[in-house]
Amino acid sequence: MSDTKVPRRGGRWKRSTGALTGLFLPLLGACFWAAAAAYKPVIIVHGLFDSSLDLLNLQRFINESHPGTNISIIDLFDGYKSLDPLWMQVEGFKAVIYPIIQNSAEGVHFICYSQGGLVCRGILSTLPQHNVHTFISLSSPLAGQYGDTDYLKYVFPEFVKSEIYRVCYSGIGQRFSICNYWKDPHHQVMYVNSSDYLALLNGEKPNPNLTEWKENFLKIQKLVLIGGPDDGVITPWESSQFGFFDDNETVVEMQHQDFFVSDSFGLKTLAARGDLNICTLSGVQHTSWHSNQTVFRACMEKWLV
Ligand SMILES: *[C@@H]1O[C@H](CO)[C@@H](O)[C@H](O)[C@H]1NC(C)=O
Ligand SMILES: *[C@@H]1O[C@H](CO)[C@@H](O)[C@H](O)[C@H]1NC(C)=O
Ligand SMILES: *[C@@H]1O[C@H](CO)[C@@H](O)[C@H](O)[C@H]1NC(C)=O
Ligand SMILES: *[C@@H]1O[C@H](CO)[C@@H](O)[C@H](O)[C@H]1NC(C)=O
Ligand SMILES: *[C@@H]1O[C@H](CO)[C@@H](O)[C@H](O)[C@H]1NC(C)=O
Ligand SMILES: *[C@@H]1O[C@H](CO)[C@@H](O)[C@H](O)[C@H]1NC(C)=O
Repeated sequence: MSDTKVPRRGGRWKRSTGALTGLFLPLLGACFWAAAAAYKPVIIVHGLFDSSLDLLNLQRFINESHPGTNISIIDLFDGYKSLDPLWMQVEGFKAVIYPIIQNSAEGVHFICYSQGGLVCRGILSTLPQHNVHTFISLSSPLAGQYGDTDYLKYVFPEFVKSEIYRVCYSGIGQRFSICNYWKDPHHQVMYVNSSDYLALLNGEKPNPNLTEWKENFLKIQKLVLIGGPDDGVITPWESSQFGFFDDNETVVEMQHQDFFVSDSFGLKTLAARGDLNICTLSGVQHTSWHSNQTVFRACMEKWLV
């Protein structure tokens, strides 16, 4: 006699025996319907130089583990358009995401990849009416970026990382998304003065809206930070979990960052609430995070209820 697995609300499984199959079949259908109806919609935001097409594997993983989930991969600012300034992107993504949120009384989840994680932070901080339950940040340079990568070479081919501050911390530089979160640990004063995105979100520069932004951000129920040492693009990789270089290029972990200690945008509150989850995996290169099913199973699947 074989066991039958019956899905319950929330997608967990309980065992029952085959003898009850006749009784169970109609119930099984109802349960599938209930499980499908119970999953919150998922909104996915892509990264630099990507488009929605890059996230189809992730969509498939979700569809398989949580059948019937309404998944929206937002198709905006694709390819080179992803270099547009992040505030412009926040407004663009917000316009598409807001109606989805309004249609989802039970709330939604965000999965935001790479640069998309910073776009999502901007949305969560500036959209008071949001009902995002879990914000999953998938290898995103949340505390900034300071590293030579191929991505950078497409944008500023003739610069090395130690010189990029000259472009990024000028008026023109901030018109490129990358410069909005370029954080040169050797030029922190200029970073704070010039960055009109990350330094505002982090409360590293005076921001009259910070209290309100913090309240908005803290409406999320869970924050999941996914990253790992073999990323190869996010530098330092710990930035995906809010760690960053000090002026000696030594990584200082999240708990010792000023924005954490001062709780400027709510990170410490989330940690104290028990709603901050860190998921670190090795062996994953930057462009593989969204297409690696092990990553999905280990770090994302359980949150998508
Ligand atoms: C989701 O899964 C169902 C059933 O397996 C399949 O029919 C459907 O095409 C899938 N949708 C996507 C977007 O993968
Ligand atoms: C999925 O969500 C979108 C955006 O809210 C909505 O337009 C669409 O009707 C939904 N699809 C289903 C099958 O509920
Ligand atoms: C701060 O930024 C402004 C505008 O970009 C610039 O004019 C000024 O020189 C900068 N100050 C410092 C100390 O970098
Ligand atoms: C603060 O919010 C006001 C009103 O929403 C807005 O006009 C202003 O640009 C915001 N300030 C910053 C620094 O974003
Ligand atoms: C910077 O690194 C050097 C070499 O590892 C070390 O001797 C020095 O104490 C460090 N300075 C700071 C401020 O951490
Ligand atoms: C997928 O993730 C696992 C777990 O971290 C890792 O060991 C593996 O190398 C990854 N595979 C690829 C192709 O990225």
